[in-house]
Amino acid sequence: MKGFIPEDKIAEILHAVSIIDVISEYVSLKKVGRNHSALCPFHSEKTPSFTVSEEKQIFHCFGCGFGGNVFSFLMRYHNISFPEAVQDLAKRYGIVIPTKRMSPGERRKFEERENILKINRLASEYFYNILLHASEGQNGREYLKKRGISREIIDRFTLGYADGSWNSLVQFLSKKKTPLSLVEKAGLIVKKRGGYYDRFRERIVFPILDVCQNVIGFGGRVLDQSLPKYLNSPDTPVYNKSRSLYGIHSAKSFCRTTDSVFVAEGYFDFLALNCHGIDNVVATLGTALTREHIRILKGYAGTAVLVFDSDEAGIKAAQRSLPLFTEEKMEVRILVLPEGHDPDTFVFEYGREGFVKLTEESLGAIPFLMSYFIAKHGLSIEGKARIIDDLKTSISALDGVKRSLYVKELAERLNIEESVVLEQVRKATSKDHKKKDAEDRKTGIFADYKIEKGILQMMVQFPPIVPYITKERIVEDFENPVLKKIGQLILQVFRDTGEVIVSDIIARIDDHKHKSLMSSLFLDEQIWDRGKCFKRIDQFRRGVNKRRGKILSQKIKEAQKANDYNLLMSLVKEKNHESRVSRDL
Ligand code: CTP
Ligand code: MN
Repeated sequence: MKGFIPEDKIAEILHAVSIIDVISEYVSLKKVGRNHSALCPFHSEKTPSFTVSEEKQIFHCFGCGFGGNVFSFLMRYHNISFPEAVQDLAKRYGIVIPTKRMSPGERRKFEERENILKINRLASEYFYNILLHASEGQNGREYLKKRGISREIIDRFTLGYADGSWNSLVQFLSKKKTPLSLVEKAGLIVKKRGGYYDRFRERIVFPILDVCQNVIGFGGRVLDQSLPKYLNSPDTPVYNKSRSLYGIHSAKSFCRTTDSVFVAEGYFDFLALNCHGIDNVVATLGTALTREHIRILKGYAGTAVLVFDSDEAGIKAAQRSLPLFTEEKMEVRILVLPEGHDPDTFVFEYGREGFVKLTEESLGAIPFLMSYFIAKHGLSIEGKARIIDDLKTSISALDGVKRSLYVKELAERLNIEESVVLEQVRKATSKDHKKKDAEDRKTGIFADYKIEKGILQMMVQFPPIVPYITKERIVEDFENPVLKKIGQLILQVFRDTGEVIVSDIIARIDDHKHKSLMSSLFLDEQIWDRGKCFKRIDQFRRGVNKRRGKILSQKIKEAQKANDYNLLMSLVKEKNHESRVSRDL
């Protein structure tokens, strides 16, 4: 995963940055004792459980369990990869990352991405200038005016216009000596025999920006009734519609202050809401809402309000995305517009107040679906059966408390026995869910192994004990493979540097769950001295011996059964030795 970035550069960045500086750009931190705390940006909460330690250069949220170092924060916050987070910080702190250490393939990819972003930026400025200043942009200007889009909004979202010529962008970029094969890869031009032509012609152009303000793609709308009405960038090395949301670059700060985000379906719906001062909005880009979308959004807001034109398609979309919201633990509400309206037409007719009023009436997803299906099927016996059938999967996907409350509510509204509803909902609980629950229980590294965790803690919080732990090969006997790996990592860092720096260790752990586990362990301040350490280590050894003893006894039983006398003798000898050792402890 880390690929081309040398370890020493990562360490250099970690030592140069202050996690407090970085995180306080996004979250308002308050100093509390030795740490800083804030409302967690990764889940919705009313009392702060997000904790940052300046001294250790790590953070942890005791509410949602997510934590790590400054890279983990940026990756999750901006939904970017590890190399991107490293690049981002390196840039800010003026640290040069030698790209020559990348493999040739990685380097080619990295440079291609950077170049495509540059081309997109140039193209976006080009379209914007045509819209504002060129005579060819006249039609575009008139169209936007007709649709009520103000100059301020044009500027804020650098809307543009692509004129009717087949090659004006080709020519513009050729003059700038841009390789056209790369422009093609950016999705802006299309290859034809012997040359290229512009993809976007006679269209209003909407540049699509990511959270870091990179121009990653484009959408374009015709000015008349011709088809296709919208044209979008194809997937490119920097653009993928199921991971991108139009307007996120602008919406993100507003989402954070309101803790909510409206999710609309179209470019003009997005712009129209922004025209009316509703700026915590994003729009999907011609696809259904995906899990990736939700993951991005929940970094900024606790609640998503899906805005739909109230038709079957909206209902289907709501039903499909509901389990995703449940699984991602993000609140969702459904806002339904009156018949015949989309957000664009609605907000221009009823204004901001009208929209806010609708928002107040918006329903949680399940109550929304309940009302919808009750209205659709009616309360005849047949109708009730259908209602339960349509709702059982959605309800079964919920967490325990909510599930039982909605089962109760549905039973009341249909005036039937709760147990009947419950049975149907239980049946609908998918096998996937059951499997996942079982897996979570099995990998219970977060609940168990207290002693092994304690040893990791002492290694970090009382480094003088590390040489002893090394000498006695304590970590080798860890039972939990994850904790063992982390223990070995700590020993290695100590061997290499003579210190145990938490953020360095976390930087070397790949898995997010494990990073979070570490940040919670290391933020839990324990006071260690030699005596306390030894006591804990002895406790650990007794556990190890007990485990070994059990295994030995099992083997002895088997050897007896198999009448393997030699094996039996050696096992018994081993067992006697073991029990002597444990008595000595
Ligand atoms: N869309 C698309 N390709 C199309 C049609 C639609 O990608 N051929 C996407 C666009 O992102 C568009 C959204 O689906 O914004 C919603 O489409 P639609 O409801 O048809 O258009 P509106 O957004 O209402 O656009 P307008 O008001 O300009 O008609
Ligand atoms: Mn519309």
